[in-house]
Amino acid sequence: MSTVKLKNLVKRYGDVTVVQGIDLEVKSEEFVVLVGPSGCGKSTTLRMLAGLEEISDGEVSIADRVVNDIAPKDRDVAMVFQNYALYPHLTVAENIAFGLRIRKVPKEEIKATVADVADILELTPLLERRPADLSGGQRQRVAMGRAIVRHPKVFLFDEPLSNLDAKLRTQMRAEIKHLHKRLGVTSVYVTHDQVEAMTLADRIVVMSNGKIEQVGTPMDLFNSPANTFVATFIGSPPMNLIEATIDIVDGKFYGVFGDQRCLLQSYEGLTNGQEVIIGIRPEYIDIEPMENSSPIDVKIDLVETLGSEALLHCKFLNEPFVIKVDTHGQIAHLDNLNKLYFRQDVMAVFDKKTTKALTPLSNH
Ligand SMILES: Nc1ncnc2c1ncn2[C@@H]1O[C@H](COP(=O)(O)OP(=O)(O)O)[C@@H](O)[C@H]1O
Ligand SMILES: [Mg+2]
Repeated sequence: MSTVKLKNLVKRYGDVTVVQGIDLEVKSEEFVVLVGPSGCGKSTTLRMLAGLEEISDGEVSIADRVVNDIAPKDRDVAMVFQNYALYPHLTVAENIAFGLRIRKVPKEEIKATVADVADILELTPLLERRPADLSGGQRQRVAMGRAIVRHPKVFLFDEPLSNLDAKLRTQMRAEIKHLHKRLGVTSVYVTHDQVEAMTLADRIVVMSNGKIEQVGTPMDLFNSPANTFVATFIGSPPMNLIEATIDIVDGKFYGVFGDQRCLLQSYEGLTNGQEVIIGIRPEYIDIEPMENSSPIDVKIDLVETLGSEALLHCKFLNEPFVIKVDTHGQIAHLDNLNKLYFRQDVMAVFDKKTTKALTPLSNH
């Protein structure tokens, strides 16, 4: 059972605390992605896990063993970096075999393992080449090969795809997912790219400023963000946020913004006159009336066509507001839209002061 546990993990550089008490349990065989803006402490957290960075406070356990004082090479983890870190003077086969050779694994065993790994990663025809004669994607595969041969308990990835162009990144993403399905090795993957996080993760850990904002499955985070930070970080385009005041009439809750209002679900602890932020995803806005939806007046500024979908940009109380709609092959009608429909069951309501999500009463 190769679980990973972080208990109140802290990293300080002098007076600055860059990781502020992270608690996390990664299950055996789980693929967990740490995501957050640049500088939020993702790499530092991963490097403490790998043993490449001293732990200021707290505890790291791998497979139920506290590893705070265990050297990186004895932690049974393998790390894949953004810049591949391949040896330029060694062939692909020698690069993959490197870790085994310094461990004095018998030659025949090395040969068989390298052949096996090369087969998994489709590197067999490239084994005698040097890194300079490989494409970016191939180099990244060699770097992964080097991690796999050691049969580690845990894979650690630090932005392994950031140096690749968009097309290759999508392809390698699928390969990593495939590889994880096949090998089932517990993995912790760091990225600033929320799309990568959404597509790869069993569970996502959203971080900002050295803290965890929310942990959940991709769909949990998409549908039920814990606060406005997660709401706008996950999803593209991000969730639209509108400041509103609560008006309760005959037991029904309304969000009032400017001279318009929309019907909301009932929320725990919501009071008359409370200032809130209403969140609604671009994908969840209707252009035709639906059950329990409220009509909202808008003016469309710009239609961006993506083919099967279009993004409608409009201004809403002077704030930009984006709607994503299916075109069904037609876009002429979209310019002229002047009403949108906000369905009460797809809206999120956040407290304006704390920015935390309120819980709908129907969830009880
Ligand atoms: N050796 C160091 N000395 C001082 N500050 C550092 C050092 N390494 C990283 N930091 C700071 O720690 C914070 C977190 O960095 P990092 O973990 O690399 O962020 P991320 O990987 O999320 O982009 C940043 O503000 C960074 O400037
Ligand atoms: Mg980093």
